[in-house]
Amino acid sequence: MKDIKKIAVLTSGGDSPGMNAAIRAVVRTGINEGFEMVGSLRGYQGLIGGDIVPLHSRSVSNIIQRGGTILKSARCKAFYEIEGRKKAHHKMQAMGIDALVVIGGDGTFTGARLFGKEYGVPIVGLPGTIDNDLYGTDYTIGYDTAINTVMEAVDKLRDTASSHDRLFIIEVMGRDAGYIALTSGIATGAEMILVPESPTYIDEMLYMLEKDWKKNKTSGIIIVAEGDDSGGALEVEKEINNRFPEFETRLSILGHIQRGGSPTAMDRVLASRLGNAAIMTLKDGVSGVMLGMVDNKIDLTSFEKSIKHHQQINLDLLDIARVLAI
Ligand code: F6P
Repeated sequence: MKDIKKIAVLTSGGDSPGMNAAIRAVVRTGINEGFEMVGSLRGYQGLIGGDIVPLHSRSVSNIIQRGGTILKSARCKAFYEIEGRKKAHHKMQAMGIDALVVIGGDGTFTGARLFGKEYGVPIVGLPGTIDNDLYGTDYTIGYDTAINTVMEAVDKLRDTASSHDRLFIIEVMGRDAGYIALTSGIATGAEMILVPESPTYIDEMLYMLEKDWKKNKTSGIIIVAEGDDSGGALEVEKEINNRFPEFETRLSILGHIQRGGSPTAMDRVLASRLGNAAIMTLKDGVSGVMLGMVDNKIDLTSFEKSIKHHQQINLDLLDIARVLAI
């Protein structure tokens, strides 16, 4: 591997709280190790278009507590194409950028894997997504903040559900993963949690609901992951209304509120440790890997593995949630 002098950091895909803390750690560790640091704006789009900004220690002051990403983010379609990656490589060479730290999810690592293979560019990745769906890390940067955001929102909805004797059906994000739904569902004592990892049988769900109401429940919370096979919260609400017109239901789709906000201490520490380790990994001559935290220790997983193997969900927790909601 050629000597690394200049490193670019970028954030790509859906943003997540803690990305700024990760950028800060990457930049400051890089500077401390004697590298020149730059940022690519809007993920891979900045590489293709040469939208690169210098990053100094002071450029990342006062951002550890901020949600979003100061480098902006995008899902760059052009980088999925050979032509786009070629342009990005030309720009990197022209600007003297020797290595990359990419922060994002599976789309980001899919691009990074191809780029690294095609041009031998040293690249390491940090898991930045609220979905917690990447293999090779117990938690992704942003997940902890997202589940706390959901928890606060559901607690508020529970207050009004209880006052009005209503059943709230709440849809949370996670794409095709049920982590956010499962964890926030347990944390809020949801009556039911529907996740893509476990098939949803509508009749069974309706039967359980009826049982709950016979046990004098007068209000409740159903958390539905957006990727659940029921089709989402709207479909679930329709089924309930058809079978039990006497129930008063309300629908709430939490949406992008889950992606914003000041990161929790957990996310800031995770991002800081992984950001620091990213630079040390490149310095050690290692590339093509995502850095994760497994059992509180830094772990390296090839991009290929981190994308292909979905992080497994603990389905026993669904049963526990159900017992705790009787
Ligand atoms: O991957 C993060 C995520 O927020 C998913 O949970 C969600 O499905 C998706 O991104 C939404 O993407 P967009 O912001 O492009 O609408």
